[in-house]
Amino acid sequence: MKTLVVELGERSYPIYIGEDLLARSDLLRPHVAGRQVMIVSNDTVAPLYLRKAQAALAGLQCHSVVLPDGEQYKTWEVLNRIFDALLEKRCDRHVTLVALGGGVVGDMAGFAAACYQRGVPFIQIPTTLLAQVDSSVGGKTGVNHPLGKNMIGAFHQPQCVLIDTVTLGTLPDRELSAGLAEVIKYGLIRDLDFLTWLEANMDALLRRDAAALAEAIERSCLNKAEVVAADERESGERALLNLGHTFGHAIETGLGYGSWLHGEAVAAGMCMAAALSARLGWITAADLARVEALVKRAKLPVRAPAKLDPERMLALMAVDKKAQDGRIRLVLLQAMGKAVVTDDYDPALMRAVLHEYRRD
Ligand SMILES: NC(=O)c1ccc[n+]([C@@H]2O[C@H](COP(=O)([O-])OP(=O)(O)OC[C@H]3O[C@@H](n4cnc5c(N)ncnc54)[C@H](O)[C@@H]3O)[C@@H](O)[C@H]2O)c1
Ligand SMILES: [Zn+2]
Repeated sequence: MKTLVVELGERSYPIYIGEDLLARSDLLRPHVAGRQVMIVSNDTVAPLYLRKAQAALAGLQCHSVVLPDGEQYKTWEVLNRIFDALLEKRCDRHVTLVALGGGVVGDMAGFAAACYQRGVPFIQIPTTLLAQVDSSVGGKTGVNHPLGKNMIGAFHQPQCVLIDTVTLGTLPDRELSAGLAEVIKYGLIRDLDFLTWLEANMDALLRRDAAALAEAIERSCLNKAEVVAADERESGERALLNLGHTFGHAIETGLGYGSWLHGEAVAAGMCMAAALSARLGWITAADLARVEALVKRAKLPVRAPAKLDPERMLALMAVDKKAQDGRIRLVLLQAMGKAVVTDDYDPALMRAVLHEYRRD
């Protein structure tokens, strides 16, 4: 087992990474302060792992709430079901919420924990690659609004993140690839060595080689933990983690949540960000080809869906939270392994990329 720490002063917390950690009550229990626990999961993950999680929490008053599965249920209405369960079970402000599932469950359980009784502790047990390398770390929580992705939310850090790599065994291939998008992102924005490592190990990752996956998860969490420690509330460096996301969120919102996976939309978005960077002369055509080749090898899209009109994409991108003063701020690549946040680009180039980067 590996332990990393997200250094945030008195709110610091460990990330445990290893095999069969879900059964390790010795890891979980010290992070539960009170007697009550509410496990939040969904109807896909609960049948697979809820009993195991309950067993690890034996001896506590352990409740659970099972939400419908899907990004389209990451809503205010479904969030309310968590509050219903907490109140029905008379959970007090010492209850610990446990998020057992992918990023959707993690974001919703975390947001519920941020709000319930003005804030209760919570634990992340991410079960998708995407959640293990990204969403479970860093304390961003929230739900979607029909007009914009993740628009309602709060910062709320977990007590710990418990990553049981064995849970990836049941993850569909498409979801594994979606997680790889966020993994590639770390390489592109701040870790060129990791990008090279990914190029050498992509086949092993797709085969679900345990050692390769563990390495990718650890390296990703290390990058995420460093960024969050340096800029918890996203006043600077943390924004770099949004590479591809302004494009990606527009794809997700434009198609309707749950059509393209978040990671798929981010993958196409990263290619578009790289393409704009290339047009600006910041990276070379060969660099751009390198980005697209890796994204393709991860079995991810390198273009936006054809049916999404570029003008609609632009309108949606302007709603995204990265927009300031009406100008769309973007994360672009200054070089391979080095990202910047900027609105200093020619909008005509951006339009050109939106038109070019559509599927035929
Ligand atoms: N908070 C953050 O910092 C942050 C960062 C990145 C993404 N996100 C959010 O995360 C969400 C995407 O997360 P995701 O990709 O994990 O999607 P998800 O939570 O929808 O999970 C993907 C699918 O896999 C299923 N699943 C989960 N674990 C499984 C397992 N072990 N075996 C079989 N099936 C399993 C889920 O039920 C779901 O059907 C988006 O809403 C995105 O906005 C948040
Ligand atoms: Zn993301």
